[in-house]
Amino acid sequence: MSENLAVIILAAGQGTRMKSATIKVLHRAAGRPIIDYVLDLAADVAGTLPIVIVGHQREAVRASVGDRARYAVQDQQLGTGHAVLQAASLLEGNGGNVLILSGDVPLTRPQTLQALIQAHESEGNALTLLTMRPDEPGMYGRIVRDADGSVRRIVEARDATREELEIGEVNAGIYLFATSQLFSNLENLSTDNAQGEYYLTDLIGMLHSGGYRVGAVVAADPVEAVGVNSRHDLAIVESEIQRRVVRKLMDGGVTFRNPSTVVIDSTVTIGADSVVYPFVTLEGTTKLGEGCVVEPGVHLINVTVGDDVHLKTGTVAEASTIDDECTVGPYAHLRAGTRLGPHVKIGNFVETKKAVFDEGAKASHLSYIGDAEVGRDVNIGAGTITCNYDGVNKNVTILEDGVFIGSDTQLVAPVRVGKGAYVGAGSTITKDVPADALALSRAPQRVVEGWAVKRRERLAEQKKK
Ligand code: UD1
Ligand code: CA
Repeated sequence: MSENLAVIILAAGQGTRMKSATIKVLHRAAGRPIIDYVLDLAADVAGTLPIVIVGHQREAVRASVGDRARYAVQDQQLGTGHAVLQAASLLEGNGGNVLILSGDVPLTRPQTLQALIQAHESEGNALTLLTMRPDEPGMYGRIVRDADGSVRRIVEARDATREELEIGEVNAGIYLFATSQLFSNLENLSTDNAQGEYYLTDLIGMLHSGGYRVGAVVAADPVEAVGVNSRHDLAIVESEIQRRVVRKLMDGGVTFRNPSTVVIDSTVTIGADSVVYPFVTLEGTTKLGEGCVVEPGVHLINVTVGDDVHLKTGTVAEASTIDDECTVGPYAHLRAGTRLGPHVKIGNFVETKKAVFDEGAKASHLSYIGDAEVGRDVNIGAGTITCNYDGVNKNVTILEDGVFIGSDTQLVAPVRVGKGAYVGAGSTITKDVPADALALSRAPQRVVEGWAVKRRERLAEQKKK
């Protein structure tokens, strides 16, 4: 079946109820455009490339979907029936079935579509559609059944009578048609309805009155058929995908202290025996290894993390890599281009940018390390700053293996501190330091014995006068 099953995905409408400059199907849920979930679904059940019907912002949709689909253009959005008709020439001579999915219905499970296909085959239907019974039928099309239970027609909410609006079973917008029954009937649709559109849903009544069998499968879980028409719907979809993502990660051995508070994109992976605390946000291509601890408030965007890494409270990182057994934070900020080798320690209130730390290096407190190469086992004291920007160019600081940088040092780049060298606390380093040397730039300390005693005496004299 799956080999000669064609798939059409409707994605031409702007989605005015989103109140957005972006077309509806490109709005993101859990890090991916919602149409991506529909493309995944199509790939799961059919062996052929789906046909995406594009219209509004067609270039943006094509750019996002790429070669995961073929395309048919609907120049004017005259309704869902008119949209499907645009795929007619691409499906000419197709003797099988056509599955129609909506680009804005992303939560359907492959098993549910398999059940739809199964029912279609075994009941010998001309059309089998997916329905659901949501808590609030709202603006969904209502399923009107005959006394014998067969589907007679679908009435759109805007065209429904008060009694029809009472119907709890609604159209999920997912249909499996015998191709032979689809395009011939689409030609006969009219726009005689509240929205003045060619409704795909009118085909149900047409087939029924033509004596063809129309079957329906009720989705066990109504969330599978939620269509994204508003920001409210988008939030429902996002939280459902979050729930599935976390569930899958838990099945793979990850512990969540409070799963309902985390935000994790569906593109993120986490290794077994990692523990995720509340209020953690993991986005984009972020990957964590095994045995990691991710404390509250950690926010990672496109970050690769090795095994047994401890990310402490409030750590923010973007486009960085963190190797095995590092400790980062609390409240560290790793900006783009940070690369931490194994066993690196980045402590509280440390900011890094385009900084490469070799194995075992440490910057434990209150530092800014930008455009820097930090060698093996280098120790950077509290309050150290790389002065990497001269107002025009970004310059590089190189600290070779085993270097010790005393607290409150300014490293005025470009500058290099040679292997094993020491920099005394409070220094401003403007010139390269040779290997194994000590560099010290602070003013020598002066001590005046008894100075305070004399000062107090002076002050007491002044008061008497
Ligand atoms: C549609 C169904 C409704 C069903 C609901 C399920 C019709 C007439 N109504 O309503 O019965 O309960 O889906 O989610 O089909 N589109 C085009 N071209 C068009 C119009 C729409 O490509 O000219 C696309 C949209 O981009 C969207 C999909 O078709 O991806 C559904 O259109 P939408 O306007 O959201 O239909 P609903 O009002 O939700
Ligand atoms: Ca819709």
